[in-house]
Amino acid sequence: MNLKVNRQDYQVEDTPDRLLLWVLRDELGLTGTKFGCGIGICGSCTVHLDGSPTRACITMLSAANNMEVRTIEGLAETDSAGEPVLHPVQKAFLDEQVPQCSWCMSGQMMTAVALLEQNPNPNADEIRQAMNSVYCRCGTYYRIRKAVERAAQLKAVEQ
Ligand code: FES
Ligand code: FES
Repeated sequence: MNLKVNRQDYQVEDTPDRLLLWVLRDELGLTGTKFGCGIGICGSCTVHLDGSPTRACITMLSAANNMEVRTIEGLAETDSAGEPVLHPVQKAFLDEQVPQCSWCMSGQMMTAVALLEQNPNPNADEIRQAMNSVYCRCGTYYRIRKAVERAAQLKAVEQ
């Protein structure tokens, strides 16, 4: 089947037991998406399917057919000089010094990006509700919430 990831097309073999997470990590080398619980609870494997946050560890590859998959590797853009330009959410997470061990971070950022694409100016409760779906064993929740607020401000300035 054709798998579209981060605006690129890949031909991958579809068998009924293939999970999206392992195709991304093991076949395409997109190891920014992490494996945590493997049962759809922790959120560390979150990617986007047509813009919706999706747990890749419990998503069959076939579910991504004819959909746009976006992973953490697809967030940054490239400027005219070929230099990477971080997504506002990535900038905000760095500015707020959110990461500790970083294991949950791609899931956190993909969840934050989806939130801000659906709701560019979320209030504190909306941020808490969206971000509570991704666990951080290092307990960075306060800084995550501050980073999402900062990302919303950065996005507003860029628009
Ligand atoms: S590894 Fe997918 S939700 Fe935990
Ligand atoms: S930064 Fe370590 S699990 Fe979140």
